[in-house]
Amino acid sequence: MTNKFKYFIGNWKMYGNLSSFKIIQNIEKYIKKNQNKFKKIKVIFCVPSTLIYPFFLKFKKSKISIGGQNCHFSKNPGPFTGSLNAQMAKNVGAKYLILGHSENRKEGENNHLINKKIENALCENLNVIFCFGETIEEKKRARTFQVIKKQINECIKAKFDLNKILFAYEPVWSIGSGKTPSINDLSKVIKFIKKYINKKYKFKKFKILYGGSVNAKNIENFSKINEIDGFLIGGASLSQKKFIDIINNYYKKPKWKL
Ligand code: PGA
Repeated sequence: MTNKFKYFIGNWKMYGNLSSFKIIQNIEKYIKKNQNKFKKIKVIFCVPSTLIYPFFLKFKKSKISIGGQNCHFSKNPGPFTGSLNAQMAKNVGAKYLILGHSENRKEGENNHLINKKIENALCENLNVIFCFGETIEEKKRARTFQVIKKQINECIKAKFDLNKILFAYEPVWSIGSGKTPSINDLSKVIKFIKKYINKKYKFKKFKILYGGSVNAKNIENFSKINEIDGFLIGGASLSQKKFIDIINNYYKKPKWKL
C-alpha cells in the first residue's frame, strides 16, 4: 500500500445535533488507540453550520479537523438571509468547506457560483473539497468525461492554489443510492481526471477523492485504486462503527491491484 496520506471525510449533510460530537470523539479515540496503523490518515468531519464552532472547540487539540458544507458566493457580508460566507465559516473554526456538492447543484447552484465560492474560500485560506460528477442521464449518454471536464474548467481557475483543493469525484447517481461505479469504470474516470488536471493546470500533486455510497464492504474494492487519495463519506459517516469499519477495511491487504 502507498505511503501517501489518505483522507476520510465525513459529510454529515443536514444531520446531527450538539450531542453528536460523541460519534467523532469515539472515532478519534479509536484512531488514537491504533495510531501505529493509522499514521497516514487525515480525518475531517464537515458538519452543519450550527455545529462547526462547538465541534471545533471539542476537537481543536485532536488530529481531526472540522469543516462546513457550503458557503455563500459573496465575499463580503450582506443582505443574504439564511446564508454564511467563507469568512464566517473560517471565523468559527472551519478548516475545510465542501463546495459544488450535487445536492446544492440540484437547488440551483451552477459552475459560475461554485467558482466564486471556491475563490472566496481559498482567499480565506480554507481547504476546499470540490465536488463534481455526472448524472445518470449523462452517464447513459456516455457524457461523463465531457461533463467532468466542463465542471472542472468552469469552477477551477488556473490561478487557484491546487494544493488547497481536494477534487472529489462523486457520480450523482451514486450518492445515497447504494450504487457505485465498477472498479474498472472508476479507475478510468480517476485516470482521466488526473491526466486532465495535470495537463490543464500543469500540476501533478493534487488530491483526488471518491464519494458516493462508500461503505465498509465496497471500500475494500476502492482501496485497489491507488490513485484515489481518499473518500467523501455521507450516510456511513453518521455511525462511528460504519466509519471505523471503512477505515479498517481500507487498510486490509488487497488481494489484487489494478
Ligand atoms: P453518501 O453521500 O455516502 O451517503 O452516498 C456522499 C456525499 O454526498 O458526499
